[in-house]
Order: sequence, then C-alpha cells, then structure tokens
Amino acid sequence: MIFIDLLRKRLLKVMAIAITNRCNLRCKMCSVWKMKNRNDMSFKDFKIIVKKIKLVGIKKMVFSGYGEPLMNKNFISFVNYAFSQGFELNLITNGTLIRRYPLKTFKKFKKIVISLDSIENYFKIRGKKESDTIIKNIFFLKEHDLNVEVNVLLSSYNYEELEKIFSFFKKMNIKINLHLTTDVLLLNFHELPLEKRQLSKTIEFIKKEERGIFNNLNQKKATIDLLNQLLKKSKKNLRGGCIMPLKSIFVLPDGNVLSCCGTNAFIMGNLLKSDLKEMFKRNDEKISKLVLGRRQCKYCLDKESFPQLVLEKIKYGW
Ligand SMILES: C[S@@+](CC[C@H](N)C(=O)[O-])C[C@H]1O[C@@H](n2cnc3c(N)ncnc32)[C@H](O)[C@@H]1O
Ligand code: SF4
Repeated sequence: MIFIDLLRKRLLKVMAIAITNRCNLRCKMCSVWKMKNRNDMSFKDFKIIVKKIKLVGIKKMVFSGYGEPLMNKNFISFVNYAFSQGFELNLITNGTLIRRYPLKTFKKFKKIVISLDSIENYFKIRGKKESDTIIKNIFFLKEHDLNVEVNVLLSSYNYEELEKIFSFFKKMNIKINLHLTTDVLLLNFHELPLEKRQLSKTIEFIKKEERGIFNNLNQKKATIDLLNQLLKKSKKNLRGGCIMPLKSIFVLPDGNVLSCCGTNAFIMGNLLKSDLKEMFKRNDEKISKLVLGRRQCKYCLDKESFPQLVLEKIKYGW
C-alpha cells in the first residue's frame, strides 16, 4: 500500500465537512431531512478535527452537507476558527439563511455555492417556497463582490427551465454547475430521473451551451456521456476507478470519516477517536480497490480516474 500512500501525500488537499445533519428544507432528492438523529457538530469537536487534518496537510475545507451548514448555531465560530488556521474555505448552502449572519462571515469564503435547481418549480423540488429569498440572497452576495456560483441538480422538474435559469444567471455573471442526481442521498429518486424524450432535449441543450455551465470541456463531455448512457440505459463504464478518495475526505457531524461522498463510500473511522494516518493505514486496501478497480459510482461528475490523473500529470507536471 506504499503506492497509495505516496499518491495520497501528493493529492490529499480537501476536507468536506457536514457540521450538522439538520435541514430547513424538504428536498425530494435528499433523505437528510428525514433522519431521526438530529446532530450538530460541537465547536469543541470541530477544533479537534481541524488539528488532526492539519497534520496530514489538508489545506481546503468545504462546509457542505449532509444537512444545511447554516443551521449550526456555531457557524460563525467554525468559520472564524478555520480561517484563522489558514484554510481556504468554500461553502455549499441552500441559500435560505444567508441574512442570519453578518456579511463579514461570508467574506472569509473563497467560493460560495448556492443550490437553486428551479425558479418555477422550486416548491415541488425542495418543499418550501424559498426561491425569491434565495435569489435575493445570491444578488446580495454578488453585489458585495463575493464569488458566488449556483448548483443546479438536473431532474424532470427543471429540464425545461434550464435555458431560462442559465441565461438569468449568466446575465449576472454567475457561474452555474449542472449536477446529476446520485442515489447517495436518495429519497424519491424514481420521481426525478428524466424520460427518454426529456433526456434527449437536455443533451441538445447542453451541446449548444458553449460557455458558462462547465468548468472545462472535459466536464461538458462527461455530462453528455453520462446522459447518453442514461438514454441508452447502458451500463458501460466511462472510466476506470476514481481518485477522489485520495484527494479528499468527507467528515460527518459525529466525526465519522467517509472515504468520499459517492455511492461507493464507506466509513473509515472516527476523527474524534483516531488519527487520519492510522485510519488510512486500516483502510488502504479498500481504498486501493476504489482507486484502481472498475467499480464506478453512478452519475458522479466529480470522479477522476487514475489513468486520467497520470495523463494530466505528464502533460502539466507534478
Ligand atoms: C446535500 S447538499 C448540502 C448543502 C445544502 N443543504 C444544499 O442543499 O446546498 C449539497 C449539494 O448536494 C446536492 N444534492 C442533494 N441531493 C442530491 C442527490 N441525490 N444527488 C446529487 N446531489 C444532490 C444539493 O443540491 C447540493 O447542491
Ligand atoms: S439537499 Fe440540502 S437543502 Fe435539500 S434536504 Fe438535503 S441537505 Fe437539505
């Protein structure tokens, strides 16, 4: 496992952290709000976690889900502490509670991603009438020169609206990330996927869209490939393995560490009880199967394969 360990030393940069599993919305594609055990991470536990991730060289923190990060009452303390420790901070939020906190808290983030899948059908997807508030909050952050992006999760409820959503935010110079629904947080998954005709229409729209949606052309190609696979109901794997478990860890409110946030993720241990190095040692055999094997997470656009990594490194250097 020396190979995996060496690779991780080069690649591990990010901790995604869920500081709560409570949520104020009721999204169709997410099961978090149905969880029985409601749990906020304490500030004391957060500080222990931060110390431990610093030891393995993690430099970037993403406050995200399972849950709505802004629901944790200690949100400001978490942000101030992580910032004071020199981390680059990103936030993924449903955008409903922005005005609960001072602007200076959000200024500490390098990027703020707000999830808004629809304007017309927001209530149907997310169970609350919040789209006006969210749009106002997006503009509020943008007006104050913060780096804001919008996450759009593709479903049968919004595929017809994509063009409108994209042009609306493009005018504001706000970047959109289009995501596909995975079965990780699955709830009413079967209501959301698109039928054949809807998929074809979406593929046509994405093909037309040259700028603005995707970080790069690879991501555009990967999205079209995945949608085509769905269309043909193909089980063909696009790429072998996935290096995400070497690039990042995903920490839950109780300190448990997931290998990533994809379908094949597993719990590696608990950061309040053990150190990351020890955890990696215990799990490296399993991780190497994810990295070098062919078991793919479905519909995940974040995955990057080992062959892809090697080619990229040859091209751009380590
Ligand atoms: C789980 S949420 C947590 C942060 C916050 N509550 C929010 O909704 O932005 C993080 C991201 O995952 C997306 N998401 C939710 N359910 C999903 C699913 N089944 N598949 C893929 N992404 C999903 C959300 O749209 C959001 O952009
Ligand atoms: S997607 Fe985000 S806002 Fe929706 S229920 Fe899940 S955690 Fe809450």
